[in-house]
Amino acid sequence: MSSNKEAWGSRVGLVLAMAGNAVGLGNFLRFPVQAIQNGGGSFIIPYLVCFLLMGIPLLFVEWSMGRFGGNYGHHSTPFILGSMSKFGFWKYIGVFGIFTNLAVAAYYCYLESWTLGYIWHSVSGTFSGQTRDDVANFFTGYTSLSNAQPIIFWLICLVLNTWILSRGLSGGVEKVAKVGMPLLIVFGIFLAIRGITLTEGSAGALYSGTTGLNYLWTPNFDTIWEPKVWLAAAGQIFFTLSVGMGSIQCYASYLKSRDDVALNAMSAGWMNEFVEVVLGGAIVIPITVGYFGIDGMLELVNKAGGLGLGFRTLPFLFQQWGPFLAVAASVMWFGLLFFAGITSSLAMGTPCMGFLQDEFGWKRNNAAFAFGAAVFILGLPTVLFFNYGVFDEYDYWAGTVSLVVFAFFEIILFAWIFGMNKGWEEITRGADIKVPIIFRYIIQYVTPVILGWVFFSSIPAIWETISNKGLYEQLATVTDAVQKAELEKTMLYRNLSRLLLLAVWAGIAFMVYIAYRKRVREGRFLL
Ligand code: TRP
Repeated sequence: MSSNKEAWGSRVGLVLAMAGNAVGLGNFLRFPVQAIQNGGGSFIIPYLVCFLLMGIPLLFVEWSMGRFGGNYGHHSTPFILGSMSKFGFWKYIGVFGIFTNLAVAAYYCYLESWTLGYIWHSVSGTFSGQTRDDVANFFTGYTSLSNAQPIIFWLICLVLNTWILSRGLSGGVEKVAKVGMPLLIVFGIFLAIRGITLTEGSAGALYSGTTGLNYLWTPNFDTIWEPKVWLAAAGQIFFTLSVGMGSIQCYASYLKSRDDVALNAMSAGWMNEFVEVVLGGAIVIPITVGYFGIDGMLELVNKAGGLGLGFRTLPFLFQQWGPFLAVAASVMWFGLLFFAGITSSLAMGTPCMGFLQDEFGWKRNNAAFAFGAAVFILGLPTVLFFNYGVFDEYDYWAGTVSLVVFAFFEIILFAWIFGMNKGWEEITRGADIKVPIIFRYIIQYVTPVILGWVFFSSIPAIWETISNKGLYEQLATVTDAVQKAELEKTMLYRNLSRLLLLAVWAGIAFMVYIAYRKRVREGRFLL
């Protein structure tokens, strides 16, 4: 039987841990860039519609599914989903809810470790007096591993995650969330105020901070009907709320059957939206626009994305604020990213650990160590071959495609197989708010249809990626032998990473099969 007797220590701790799960690097680095690349003001309307029609319904569904499965002693999605239908197929859909966490953690922890490295360099004064190019080149050097330091910070970060996970939910994860989330919000508010109140001419700024803010928020109806904008908005909602990943179900599986899910889900979800839309929108873009103008910012976004703004540009811009503020702002910025990152990577660890504890009777320490080791092994290719797109490959398959596939199947299971009568009972039992009845119909009809649409309309794009269309097109135009060899190498590494991810998925599915056989042998069935 499972040795897994974890529980949350307090309601505040649970909500902060869930908010910490959702609030991540995505809120500060991914959201602003998605908004800019999809037309600024035309992004926010689809984004909010997706939040209401997919985000909130999926939060209700995942929280209540988790609590349901947890009451039968299941803490990871294969057997949580398995407990909701007699049909064996569903536990293999649940494989996605472990796979995503493991594969995303593999690259996410590397990113997270950069923030540690950058805190170190901010304090030790590396950036003081550096030019814009120096700061940008520093990042290029850091990610191309020109010395051992990034690896050391990565290992420190992995050890830290493993250690916290080994202390359990109330003794580890919850404590980190209780300290990290409030600090993150304080740092975020400070930086956002600096961003917004930047005035033309002060601290070397050429434009006011509100120029960037206006660009982000002025509605622009020209591109609002483009499917691409809607897909990007849906993708961002998934990523930021951590829905379709299996980590919410896992956290919720440690609730008791009459604990509230409705209000808790809303508290954590709206906290994430506040951090994303209000704070995430008021830092990188306003500050960058303040110094480089709209065109300069657009150029940077298109060239280097969110990581480019956050790591290559901001540490330089902070230098314009005088020596004391430069260090303080830089520590706050990378500190905020660190807390955002670690509270999310811890959430990625718990489903994997729950699975090993429930099914194979592993002790918590061993399960935490196994997760750390798996992240190290799977992460190694993203660290070593970062410049060959291995990282992007993981992000695409595990951090984008897999979420949509999983969410699509899980909502069908919940609303149509488990059934909406029972489903609604699960959502509302013990609820401390009255959930508007309209959500019952949204969950039953609207969310599955939109998800199905997102899923099926992305198939052509997914196929283009699988067939390496873009890379072949580039290859066809390149004549230079060196460049050609590099492109071929990129293609090879990308194909290999896909095979690796497929093998990981199959490996987890095999373990689920073994676990199931073990249950049958021991006469412990799913319920
Ligand atoms: N929501 C997080 C962010 O915005 C990312 C995240 C948290 C995640 N938990 C996850 C991604 C589990 C994949 C799997 O950065």
